Amino acid sequence: MVEDVIIDTDIGDDIDDAFALAFALNSSELNVKAVTTVFGKVEVRTKLALKLLKTFGREDIPVATGVGKPFFERTYRRERYLGNEVPRQAVVLVEDEPLPKPYPKHAVDLIISTVMDSRNEVTIIPVGALTNIAACIIKEPKLVERAKLVIMGGAVSNWFRPTVSRAEHNIRCDPEAARIVFESGIPITMVGLDVTMKCALSEEQVDSIRKRGLATTTLLTYMTAGWGGSRVILHDPLAVAVSFDPTLTKSQPRLVNVVTTGKARGFTLASESDTPNAQVCIDVDSDRFVSMFMKRILKSPN
Ligand code: RIB
Ligand code: CA
Repeated sequence: MVEDVIIDTDIGDDIDDAFALAFALNSSELNVKAVTTVFGKVEVRTKLALKLLKTFGREDIPVATGVGKPFFERTYRRERYLGNEVPRQAVVLVEDEPLPKPYPKHAVDLIISTVMDSRNEVTIIPVGALTNIAACIIKEPKLVERAKLVIMGGAVSNWFRPTVSRAEHNIRCDPEAARIVFESGIPITMVGLDVTMKCALSEEQVDSIRKRGLATTTLLTYMTAGWGGSRVILHDPLAVAVSFDPTLTKSQPRLVNVVTTGKARGFTLASESDTPNAQVCIDVDSDRFVSMFMKRILKSPN
């Protein structure tokens, strides 16, 4: 069966959001009903999503701009608010380039209407801060009975260095929103950073995307250059893959608590419980996933 999905993204900073959208569009198991943007310069992120969808010939998919600011704006990363920065991949946006118009209503309203008007259960795949999703749940509490989430975010084991812990970016960008979502009762699969870190592309794989020469792979290559990072890690594409093939990962039911205060602000603490709130991925068959990803990225759009 084809899954109806909504992708909620902070496309523009890390390169994996663009790859996640591309991977979803080239996956016949998925019907992408909407794309929504979140965190920081959301209008620019919306333009990037519109450009990517246009390049894939999918101007029919609505793209709506969401919430730019976290529930409580606090400093993050050397006392700067990261969301003030223009996404680096905006270098691919050409002035006066004709792009489809963004959806005329707010992302929160597009997510709610898409879920509530659908006959099927909709899977929402949030791959940025959880601000839009928390706002949806506050505005339409029945959403938790009609949708499920496959979240790229958090971590349940140390992903940084054995002796140093760090909060994962998407949760750290809006811990209050994450807490609302995890405490809401909506079915959640959590694809955390400790698992996604195992899914990196080799230089040869990045090179084969560069050499492929399709309009889609050329755009992805320009976006990768704008991003400027050295290692492409498939955080967000793994969440997309898990939405239609959970057998790619090993997972366990856990009670996940989001820490909102003190030095551990943004950490996700997972414990065994009789009342779990999430199915937490703990391992991945990275070879199978990366090879599936590469095949789909290199093919012409459907
Ligand atoms: O921590 C990884 C996450 O942060 C990914 O979603 C990446 O795109 C960035 O948003
Ligand atoms: Ca992301």
